[in-house]
Amino acid sequence: MIEFLKLLWIRIVVYFYETIEFIEVVFRYYPNKRFRQQDLSLLSKYIFTSPYSISKNYLLARGADDLYQYGETPLTTLARIVKECQISEKDIVYELGCGRARTCFWLASFVKCRAIGIEQIPTFVEYANQVKNKFHVTGVKICEGNYLDYSYMDASVIYIYGTCLDEPVIKLLIRKFAKLPPGTKIITISYPLTDYVDYGQFALFNVVHRFEASFPWGKGAVYMHVRNDHQSHK
Ligand SMILES: C[S@@+](CC[C@H](N)C(=O)[O-])C[C@H]1O[C@@H](n2cnc3c(N)ncnc32)[C@H](O)[C@@H]1O
Repeated sequence: MIEFLKLLWIRIVVYFYETIEFIEVVFRYYPNKRFRQQDLSLLSKYIFTSPYSISKNYLLARGADDLYQYGETPLTTLARIVKECQISEKDIVYELGCGRARTCFWLASFVKCRAIGIEQIPTFVEYANQVKNKFHVTGVKICEGNYLDYSYMDASVIYIYGTCLDEPVIKLLIRKFAKLPPGTKIITISYPLTDYVDYGQFALFNVVHRFEASFPWGKGAVYMHVRNDHQSHK
């Protein structure tokens, strides 16, 4: 019962936050007609089934312990991340676990960079690609799959909002990122990669910037790492 009340309270807080965020998005970004059309088309696909329940059902079917892993980066927070991390139209941004990919459409519209989202849940990928095709959106690519299977050699920025990742997954990602060219930016939420590097990998990443940003659950720390030019000893 207490668990249920806790979940209910979290949902109420999240709905309240998302409503305020949506009003801000309308004022800030909906004057851009193309983005407005894409965003409303994407949101309309989730009127009857929210991305939270799509994610929950996906995780349930796979026997996951934690069914409540889904969350989204508010677009106003994404705008702040773009500014603080100096992401520009020259960048190729990979979003690892892009969810329903609102973020990718926003990046392509307002930063004009290339945004490539990798997502494991087929429904999210299908809906995002329907919007991409309907509005002939260039600059966005949404791929279905496990982000551990990609190499990211052409990325200049990698964004991961995965606060529920297991330590072994973070360590696998670190080994992958060790092969990236120097200068690649890696942005994480809540924890820096440097908390998880093994002996011999300590010189791989520098946390060059840390700042607080708003998420539906409260303030979260954003870490920007840069892959430096030291090689891993492993
Ligand atoms: C917390 S949500 C973040 C959504 C989006 N990045 C955002 O910030 O709005 C994390 C997403 O990562 C996806 N995900 C988790 N592990 C994954 C994996 N190994 N490969 C692909 N997607 C994954 C989940 O399905 C979920 O949609």
